[in-house]
Amino acid sequence: MNTADSSEIIKKLAEEKGSFNRDIQKVSSAEEVYKLKVRYIGAKSFIISTLGSVGNLPAQLRPAVGRETNTVKKEIEAVLNQKEKYFKSLEFDHGLRKEKIDLSLPGKNMAAGKKHIISAVIEEIEEIFVGMGFEIAEGPEVETDYYNFEALNTPADHPARSLHDTFFITENTLLRTHTSPVQIRYMEKNKPPIYIIAPGKVYRKDYDISHTPMFTQIEGLVVDRGINFGNLKWVLEKFIREIFGKERKVRFRPHYFPFTEPSAEVDVSCDICSGSGCRTCGGSGWLEILGAGMVDPNLYRYVNYDPEEVAGFAFGMGIERICMLKYGINDIRLFYENDLRFIDQF
Ligand code: PHE
Repeated sequence: MNTADSSEIIKKLAEEKGSFNRDIQKVSSAEEVYKLKVRYIGAKSFIISTLGSVGNLPAQLRPAVGRETNTVKKEIEAVLNQKEKYFKSLEFDHGLRKEKIDLSLPGKNMAAGKKHIISAVIEEIEEIFVGMGFEIAEGPEVETDYYNFEALNTPADHPARSLHDTFFITENTLLRTHTSPVQIRYMEKNKPPIYIIAPGKVYRKDYDISHTPMFTQIEGLVVDRGINFGNLKWVLEKFIREIFGKERKVRFRPHYFPFTEPSAEVDVSCDICSGSGCRTCGGSGWLEILGAGMVDPNLYRYVNYDPEEVAGFAFGMGIERICMLKYGINDIRLFYENDLRFIDQF
């Protein structure tokens, strides 16, 4: 190499630098910066191979070419480093922004489940009776003919059987048509004094605005020494005023059930018309809410109680009907259609 060679190299270095300065204006990512790094100061670049061959130059040229090449390399390197840093931090920020959790955003609401109105009213009724010293009992929904009818003084040829549209499973098993079989089951296993209520599902072949094939009843049974109709009236009047309000009137009408004697149907005064008569109460001013009576002494034969020693009363009520009267609901089927617009109101 001679002097001409060295000025060639210096010229070429200036061109490289000019070309680099143009290219670096166009980069827009760390990756593009890296490509320029390979191209201008990578192992195969003009600058690096020049540095590698400085030793081959004549001795008097080496310092000038070496210095100039190093200076250009360092300048390029500095710009590349600075650009690389800039794009890397930009990309990092961008990544953070993408992953950022905004703690001020409102949370997703979990829809909380709640008690069905029928369950809530059962609990309310249970509390009232437990407060009077009653215990809670249970019985099976699949019953035998014996407990559902026969032991309740309703023999096979009894006209009252046709009142119930019963779902039979076999000739002798059925879905209970009322909660009264719990009376017999409980008396079989326990001795007086008995003070129980027994809530549960019952089944009848019915479906219209005031009947569903499954509905809910609460049975009540008291058996003790010296129980009379006055006790029955006191307990039911107290219950009705607690569940419907103190201002409601209660009336007992003579009725018939095979398993109570005497029997009564119990009405509460209509609160829509305050007793003066309207469409809801059929103009009578009264709404029927339960059946009751003194336990027919005949039943004691089935459970080995002595009718000379003990007496009792029983009552049974439909929970849906109580809900309807309490909340002004006019179609019983609403309870079981599971329409959240209805269910959520309570
Ligand atoms: N079991 C009766 C019915 O379903 C209600 C009732 C219960 C009546 C207890 C008297 C005593 O209609």
